[in-house]
Amino acid sequence: MRVSFDLDGEERTVETAPDRSLRELLREDCDALSVKAGCDGGRCGACTVLLDGEAVKACLVMAAKVDGRSVTTVEGVADGTLGREVQDAFEDHSALQCGYCTPGFVLSALASLDDHPDADRETLRSALSGNVCRCTGYEKILDAVEAVAERRGEAE
Ligand code: FES
Ligand code: FES
Repeated sequence: MRVSFDLDGEERTVETAPDRSLRELLREDCDALSVKAGCDGGRCGACTVLLDGEAVKACLVMAAKVDGRSVTTVEGVADGTLGREVQDAFEDHSALQCGYCTPGFVLSALASLDDHPDADRETLRSALSGNVCRCTGYEKILDAVEAVAERRGEAE
């Protein structure tokens, strides 16, 4: 099966097996290793990517579904203003240790901030509720994302 899609701004055409998930397509066929493999059952959020700008768990999306669409990983947002801001905030607030969950959290945060630039903490908590971190604790992660939302709110 052939799948053509935009991956982080680059057109990709990949031969893959029809039963592949998007998580497998990205990591195993495209070497997009920032997309983490966790539970592979929709429970941890480690594999979160943006599909046409919406945060999705890549392990729950069939690879065939991305034909003609746009997939963004954390690599694809590193140079964008908001992507940089969120990643810097994680560092500033010590919101990561092993970093395994971080790409997923960053992308879920970005999708939420895109929809609600000055979201309050409870809105952000809900937006990040599908992502699991085993190291840092959720309050520091929320502190980081809330700081970005507050800065964005003040700038408006
Ligand atoms: S690996 Fe996809 S949600 Fe856990
Ligand atoms: S920083 Fe290690 S799992 Fe979140």
